[in-house]
Amino acid sequence: MKSVLITGCSSGLGRGMVNEFLLRGWYVFCTMRNLEQRRQIFADIQEKYPDKLTLLNLEVTEASQRDAVVKFVQQSGGLDCLINNAGFGLLGALENVSESQFRYQMEVNFYAPVFLTRALLPLLRQQNGNVIFISSVCGSLGFPLMAAYCASKHALEGLAESLYYELEPHGVDVTLLELGLSKTNFGQNTIWGIGQEEAYRQHTENYHQWKASLSDKARDKTLRVALRVADIAEGKRRQLRERVDAETNLTSFFEKILPEKFWVQAMKVFYRQKIFARQR
Ligand SMILES: NC(=O)c1ccc[n+]([C@@H]2O[C@H](COP(=O)([O-])OP(=O)(O)OC[C@H]3O[C@@H](n4cnc5c(N)ncnc54)[C@H](OP(=O)(O)O)[C@@H]3O)[C@@H](O)[C@H]2O)c1
Repeated sequence: MKSVLITGCSSGLGRGMVNEFLLRGWYVFCTMRNLEQRRQIFADIQEKYPDKLTLLNLEVTEASQRDAVVKFVQQSGGLDCLINNAGFGLLGALENVSESQFRYQMEVNFYAPVFLTRALLPLLRQQNGNVIFISSVCGSLGFPLMAAYCASKHALEGLAESLYYELEPHGVDVTLLELGLSKTNFGQNTIWGIGQEEAYRQHTENYHQWKASLSDKARDKTLRVALRVADIAEGKRRQLRERVDAETNLTSFFEKILPEKFWVQAMKVFYRQKIFARQR
């Protein structure tokens, strides 16, 4: 039986992936932090698939918890797929983001996937497995007031693209799934920079309004993401970068075909309207 380890399964995309892999007959190492308070989330599913699901506690930034999870998986016999999904968004102008906030953003979204992947690679090499990184449109583009989140996802993309080539001779596939906005708990789990610099007050307010209007329109892409991720894990798709939504495909297309100066100009006009406009 093939097996997969998924981080950040307490909600959103991770939770959706657990269901899809179980439906497809995989063994799932389903990880989340504060597991003891959250076991009930998977109570029904565990009853339905008692031999195919193991819940493991994993705060991804805690090295000792990562080690314990890796040891458990080693003792269970092997791993075919790792999905680095856990993540959150730190928003706000750089001057409003504290050093510890920025570092924590990088710890969760970047360093945790680095070290979890490194620790599980011996098992993944044995199985000719896959590593899937859940990235974002922010992994290839920069957005104002999102420098920390964009930096973390750009770092993830550099890591994954390098590993894509490094691990190919060892039979391990690497994929980045770049997503646009999806209705999950991501919005409510977003953290804002703690600073209150007056120079960014208006821009921050405009950003909140823009984000609220986007959130209203956002669709739940959990199932679409789960289907695509499971297809990747089953070898039905092998591209370095996969995208499931039209907006990510379109943005990536235009960013690639437009000369940089036109693209940058178009982005400036867009941000002037959405974020830097003065309130009347
Ligand atoms: N939704 C979107 O619009 C969107 C767009 C592009 C990319 N993404 C990416 O998709 C991934 C999943 O996000 P989502 O949309 O499913 O949001 P979500 O519903 O907020 O889920 C995020 C998951 O990550 C977990 N997590 C956060 N910090 C963690 C930590 N330190 N240790 C362990 N788990 C941690 C959360 O656990 P807790 O419940 O304990 O906080 C939760 O299970 C993220 O990497 C995100 O960057 C999302």
